[in-house]
Formats: sequence, C-alpha cells, structure tokens
Amino acid sequence: MIVVDSFTGARQAMVGRSGLVPTMGSLHEGHLACVAALRSDSDCVVMSIFVNPLQFDDPGDLARYPRSMERDLELAGAAGVDVVFAPPVEAMYPEPPLTRVVVSAVSAEMEGVHRPGHFDGVATVVAKLFAGLRPDRAAFGRKDAQQLAVVKRLAADLSFGVQIVEVPTVREHDGLALSSRNVFIEDRKAALGLSRGLFLAADSARAGERSAITLEEIAGRTASKAGAMVEYATLADVRTARRIPALDRTAFLAIAARVGSIRLIDNVVLEPDGTADRGTRLDGPSILGGS
Ligand code: PAJ
Repeated sequence: MIVVDSFTGARQAMVGRSGLVPTMGSLHEGHLACVAALRSDSDCVVMSIFVNPLQFDDPGDLARYPRSMERDLELAGAAGVDVVFAPPVEAMYPEPPLTRVVVSAVSAEMEGVHRPGHFDGVATVVAKLFAGLRPDRAAFGRKDAQQLAVVKRLAADLSFGVQIVEVPTVREHDGLALSSRNVFIEDRKAALGLSRGLFLAADSARAGERSAITLEEIAGRTASKAGAMVEYATLADVRTARRIPALDRTAFLAIAARVGSIRLIDNVVLEPDGTADRGTRLDGPSILGGS
C-alpha cells in the first residue's frame, strides 16, 4: 500500500480501473464495506482520509473529531486498499477556496436545515476528489442517505463520469449504525432508540402503513422515549431528498438526534411495496471498540 499526500502523488500511484472511497478516517466496518464494494472489480482502490474543515458547521465538532491515522493505515492495508491519499489541510486547500459547489434542493431539507453549509463543504471536497483523482467509481454509504443523494446529483450535474456505488449501512449486532462519533456515546440505550424507531417504522410499512406522518411519528417517538433529543424524523424521496407525504416511491426514513453531547443520524431505505433495506449487522463488537 502506498501513502501519498498530494493529488499528483495519488495520480502517479493509480493504475487501471480505479475505485475511490472518500473518508474522514477513524475507520470502522462501514468504511471497510465501502472498500469491499469496490475491491473485486478494481485494479486500484484509493482511500482518501481527510477531515474536511469546510463541512463542519461547529468548530468544537471539528476540534474533537476522532483521528487515528496509524490505526487507519493498518486497517486500510488489511482491507486491500492500494493507495491512501491523506493530504494535510494546506495541500487540499493551499488558499481558502473561493469556489463552492452547492447542490441546491437536495441539500435543502433535513441535515441542510440543522447543519447550514454542511453539504456545500461536502460537495466541494467531493468535487475536488473527483476532479483531482478522476476515479472510475466511488463508493458511498447509505448511512448518510442525504449525502449520497447530494453526491449522485453532483456527479451527474458536473459530468465527472464517475459511477457511484451504494453501500448498505453496517450496524453493530444490536442495531446501532456504525459511526466514527460512536466512540463518544455515553448513553447507549438512548443511541439505540434511533435504529429501534426506524425498524419499528419499517415493520409498520411492511404491515401496510404508507403515511409519512405515521412512519415519522413511530421513529421519532421511539427515539425520544429512549432518551434521544430528536431533531427530525423525515420520510424523503431517495433521489431528491425532499420530504414526501406518503411512501409511494423508493424513499428513506431518516432520523437525527442528540444523545448527550453528540449528534447521531440514521435511516432505513423503504420501498413502496413495504420492503426495506435495514443494512447489515456485525456478529460481534465493532473494531471501534463499541458495545
Ligand atoms: P465519513 O463519515 O468518514 O464516511 C465515509 C464514507 O463511509 C461515507 O460514504 C459514509 O456514508 C460511509 N459510512 C459511514 N458509516 C457507515 C456505515 N455505518 N455503513 C456504511 N457506510 C458508512 O461521509 C464522510 O466521511 C464525508 O462527508 C466525506 C464523504 C468523506 C467528505 O468529506
């Protein structure tokens, strides 16, 4: 595995059909599932590890974002990554960028309301990665369903010619969606309220419920009862990330909540026939050292 810190270095190290896994490091099985999704059909898998200041709306969140480069390099190597692109902030942004990529509408609701500017930062750095590395494919997790919608639209709108590969959400054995921020969870029962609420809503959809209000209420109420401070529970079109009043197309039911000092998001993808993608589960504790 080669580790590089510049776009030029990365391009020189890349050969053949390439796949990119953009990350902010502090790797867990969700990131590794993204690698696995590209590994078999790529000559070269590149992972970027970059905590992107542009996408943090809260400076405190940026300052304490977990970082573990040595461990990340070991995990990336073992997962079959060929090239790690880990630029310092000065290499990614030699000057404060004057250009912003704004994927309007898709960025407007849910996270867009609660984290103003966040998706502009994500879209800008992802556009830089696509432009600087020119990967054939790039993998993104469904865990961040709205981000996935933003990235797909960005790739199409700006003609990057990159194929976006979607990766189902990886969960701990008890249902908690893996996230680098999980290392800060103090009240696991409250954190589990998010996935429990989503699964109960998915059960209800399977039993025939189609009303967004009802599905949102089931998810939100369950998480609140468990002790999470719910910011939103929203049923949205999977492509536009706009709220829809009824489950009449492929959608995701997303939830965001504060649990103690951290903020968690999760979702399930729901089909109009009531089936769901609830993600996959680990057999044991995560490499993050969770439960
Ligand atoms: P990060 O949170 O590190 O996530 C990197 C990739 O891993 C994203 O595509 C995310 O959706 C995916 N991922 C995270 N947790 C997952 C899980 N439990 N199951 C499956 N996939 C999961 O998302 C970002 O970084 C950044 O916004 C980034 C796209 C790198 C831009 O800075």
